[in-house]
Amino acid sequence: MYNCSLLKFINLKNKYGNLTPIEETVDVPFNIKRIYYISKVPQGLNRGSHAHRKLHQVLICLNGSVKVKVKNPKEESEFILDDATVGLYIGPYTWSEMYEFSEGTVLLVLASDFYNESEYIRNFDIYMEEANKRY
Ligand code: TYD
Repeated sequence: MYNCSLLKFINLKNKYGNLTPIEETVDVPFNIKRIYYISKVPQGLNRGSHAHRKLHQVLICLNGSVKVKVKNPKEESEFILDDATVGLYIGPYTWSEMYEFSEGTVLLVLASDFYNESEYIRNFDIYMEEANKRY
């Protein structure tokens, strides 16, 4: 899907456990300026439901599982994230929704810029109006 894809990271696995390194511009297609993580999401609650005008992000489910629906004016896909060695890259002008968080889910997000509310699009009609010019 345009501006959205799964990334497979290296998993260094040995008798001591697993280690997954992620380097900016090498393993993810941008420089990482911010990370945040989402946890303890109440059962049945949905998150997301927005797009970003500029931000590039990679979502990595470190524990548990979560579903992510991504949309643009031409395409729609659903991903199940349940593997800490897999990232979901979501680029600008991609609408995303996260739901069905399992108990204990920890979702790590790598982001290309600092938090800036003004580059969010939180209204789907406005998203479609702006995104239609780009797709
Ligand atoms: P939001 O991005 O809407 O979270 P989600 O998509 O998971 O539902 O952010 C939720 C709140 O947290 C909102 O008030 C903005 C704030 N926030 C920050 O202050 N800094 C951040 O880096 C992020 C991602 C959110």
